[in-house]
Amino acid sequence: MIINVKINGLKKTLDVEPDEYLVDALRRYGYISVRQGCDTGNCGVCTVHLDGKSVLSCIVLAAKADGREVTTIDGVKEDAERVGRYLVEEGAEQCGYCSAGTIMSILYLEKCVENPTDEDILHYLAGNLCRCTGYEGQVRAIKKYLEAKKNEDSK
Ligand code: FES
Ligand code: FES
Repeated sequence: MIINVKINGLKKTLDVEPDEYLVDALRRYGYISVRQGCDTGNCGVCTVHLDGKSVLSCIVLAAKADGREVTTIDGVKEDAERVGRYLVEEGAEQCGYCSAGTIMSILYLEKCVENPTDEDILHYLAGNLCRCTGYEGQVRAIKKYLEAKKNEDSK
């Protein structure tokens, strides 16, 4: 079946199977920055934004994206790189496999919650499993990133 999707700001027409998941369709069409792990909605590495909302693309049918907007980490490069730098500085990026999905969740948190508490941060990270860290580095990095953004905005 044919679906029309805006991906990272560009209109695309994809030919997908009725039972194909979004992660598979995206990767098949070359969006390989969307990672694939558990395929069961448990690890978070496949996180993308669908109409601005964080979703796990391995449990969303590609057909559901018809007429909608998908953003992968490539569509938010500048912000993603910036968050990534904070993660690295705080030692929260080790193997890095979880990073793309985690960054998409961090950007969604930034959009949804003003002045998040540690609890809010952990809540938004809950769907993104990281096997290498204890999340303390991520929490520190997120706080520093948001603080820097706030200081910039208040100038
Ligand atoms: S691959 Fe989608 S949640 Fe693990
Ligand atoms: S840094 Fe390795 S899984 Fe998170």
